[in-house]
Amino acid sequence: MNKTSVLFVCLGNICRSPLAEGIFRDLVEKKGEADKYIIESSGTGTWHIGQPPHPESIQIAKEYGIDISSQKARHLADEDFFNFDYIIAMDQSNLNDINDRLISLKGEKAPECFCLRQHDPEKKSEQDISVPDPYYEGGFDGVFKMIERSLEEWLKI
Ligand code: 4NP
Repeated sequence: MNKTSVLFVCLGNICRSPLAEGIFRDLVEKKGEADKYIIESSGTGTWHIGQPPHPESIQIAKEYGIDISSQKARHLADEDFFNFDYIIAMDQSNLNDINDRLISLKGEKAPECFCLRQHDPEKKSEQDISVPDPYYEGGFDGVFKMIERSLEEWLKI
């Protein structure tokens, strides 16, 4: 069986995309479909490579019964563009960086790249498609719920 591979991407890979990775894994596990997916996350920036998620991301996930503490931040790699079916950005700036890399790589097989919140049933406009940095806007609980409801909606497709 061919697995569907999904890579979540943010800037640092310590706040938002580790949550998306953990929440998505939890959602598909609850559906009994975990073995159908390869799920990872990465960052467009290099500052936090090798580090665990931000303590507040670990804490909010734990409050919802999800353990993301063993994740380690990594940089978005060229191979990711060949190995993943979906590259899902947390915000528009991440998506711009992803698309720039995609164009420069000119791969034969391109992943589908989009902003997660395009699927947010509570987005306020077509421009309202970014998951904010929870440290500055939205808070970790708000960002958790935003990611969760967007992923639930995407999984319905
Ligand atoms: P993230 O948040 O992209 O959701 O992981 C950030 C974490 C760290 C930095 C930027 C964003 N940083 O500049 O170090």
